[in-house]
Amino acid sequence: MHVFSEITTLQQHLHARRQQGQRIGFVPTMGALHQGHLSLVGQAKAETDCCVCSIFVNPIQFNNAHDLAVYPRTLDADCALLETVHCDIVFAPSAAAMYPKPVALRMDFGDLETVLEGKFRPGHFNGVGIVVSKLFHIVAPDRAYFGQKDLQQCLVIRRLVEDLSFNLELVICPTLRETDGLAMSSRNRNLSAQERAQAPVIYAALEVFRAQLSLRGLETARQAALEHLRQCPDLVLEYFEVVDTQTLQPIEQYQGQEVAVCVAAFLGKTRLIDNILM
Ligand code: PAF
Repeated sequence: MHVFSEITTLQQHLHARRQQGQRIGFVPTMGALHQGHLSLVGQAKAETDCCVCSIFVNPIQFNNAHDLAVYPRTLDADCALLETVHCDIVFAPSAAAMYPKPVALRMDFGDLETVLEGKFRPGHFNGVGIVVSKLFHIVAPDRAYFGQKDLQQCLVIRRLVEDLSFNLELVICPTLRETDGLAMSSRNRNLSAQERAQAPVIYAALEVFRAQLSLRGLETARQAALEHLRQCPDLVLEYFEVVDTQTLQPIEQYQGQEVAVCVAAFLGKTRLIDNILM
């Protein structure tokens, strides 16, 4: 496995591979890798000739200084994990390499970012859009892999790819879960033992909603899910929204259409998100 921190040396290496006809798969991450990331690498390995995994904690997508400060940074352990799944290349640039000067550009994703995460994390998708654009330009992948757990991020990046004509295929992969249902996330390791024990309530509430929707309708299903969440005293809910899977705008009337149910909540200082499509 090759590990690069400089943009130009990575690009020279990738250029040589492309000359040999290799197709590049790309898994962008912020490190603190878990099985969810490794499954993206596995899929990239299966579908392309060379998998690049980037590890970069992108400061400009954090709107909360505490979240940025405590975001786990575990490069050596991440590289060891990536070796186990035969990742070909790790790109781990410094903040100075990615942002030699402050970025003046601002990205606006319109209605897609005024809801859900965008509403609670102002500026977040601007930061995601800028770093993902830079990474796409640097790596120039044929395929890029993202997890459905960050559903809104997936839709924002799809718009980015379309609007900026990135010549790549976006691959959205299902959320991986722990055996108790908790969606895998780098932030899970910040949970105390007591918070970790309570965290599965989030997915359980989504399943309560799923079980109730067709039987009892939108509002009763939502109330049942909220009631389930209220049984967890330490959980502070930010949102529980039933939205259109493409526009992410709230669904007022359920008529059997495909919907996404999205939730964000704090357990202690750790913010967790999850969603299901149904
Ligand atoms: O999902 C993430 O880990 C990050 O938002 C991403 C896509 C790597 C951009 O920093």
